[in-house]
Amino acid sequence: MKHWHIDQVAWDRFDPTKVDPEIVPLVKAAAMVERNASDYTAYLNSVFRDDPDFRQAADNWAVEEIQHGDALGRWGMCADPSWDFEAAFVRYRAGFKIEVNADASIRGSRTGELIARCMVETGTSSYYTALGDATEEPVLKEVCRLIAADEYRHFKLFYDHMKRYLARENLSFMKRLRVAAGRIGESEDDELAYAYYCGNESEDLPYDHQRCIAAYMGRAMGFYRFRHIERSTGMVFKSIGLEPRGRLADLAARGAWRLLQWRRERYVAALRKAANENAAPPLAEAA
Ligand SMILES: [Fe+2]
Ligand SMILES: [Fe+2]
Repeated sequence: MKHWHIDQVAWDRFDPTKVDPEIVPLVKAAAMVERNASDYTAYLNSVFRDDPDFRQAADNWAVEEIQHGDALGRWGMCADPSWDFEAAFVRYRAGFKIEVNADASIRGSRTGELIARCMVETGTSSYYTALGDATEEPVLKEVCRLIAADEYRHFKLFYDHMKRYLARENLSFMKRLRVAAGRIGESEDDELAYAYYCGNESEDLPYDHQRCIAAYMGRAMGFYRFRHIERSTGMVFKSIGLEPRGRLADLAARGAWRLLQWRRERYVAALRKAANENAAPPLAEAA
């Protein structure tokens, strides 16, 4: 059962004068990753094949994620009426595949799998909160608020199942930390970069991971404020069994914030360099 329906969104309040052009390519890319949730459900169903409660929860989860994709895709088409979400998604599906028939979790254990899922929901929950806070466009604000609430609920869902498996599997703290850090690092892999490519660039241009991840992250990282990072650090801490509030969490949040600024500057510099290389020579030189 979904907690809201796409048709409840006040689409008629869409205000094109309030659209931030830096947000549009991010929304288009995110729409595809969200819409692609059915592959992850197939994978989770296969990993948790003898756990009907979790399988049911994973099926419900996917329905909500797919709706996130549909809502973001619909907003992308409001913001850019020339954009074809269906066509972009077909292209994404054809080029980005995950292994759905796994005998066991790629994270080494079910606890590890659920910690990785908690990392994803932490990331999406803070990301949509940040985008929703940043945008002045009323429909996107509403969509982001609805999605962020779902993502936080998803976090709690995977967290509760993780606790159940942790009691059984007793995964060590170091192993939990490694899975969490590994999954956070994967946010810069192909999933988002390729979605950026399919959502925003022509098929005539060959896919280049570095170019696309810089284009995505250089923009996305600019929308975070310290409070978003502070909150997600708390969620990461909770997932691996550390105190979500306190001195260590404060220190980690400040470190993560600095790391984010540093990464963002590097991506923005890469974007600028690429733009300069592609730009026509200045008029004086050309003359
Ligand atoms: Fe989502
Ligand atoms: Fe989610």
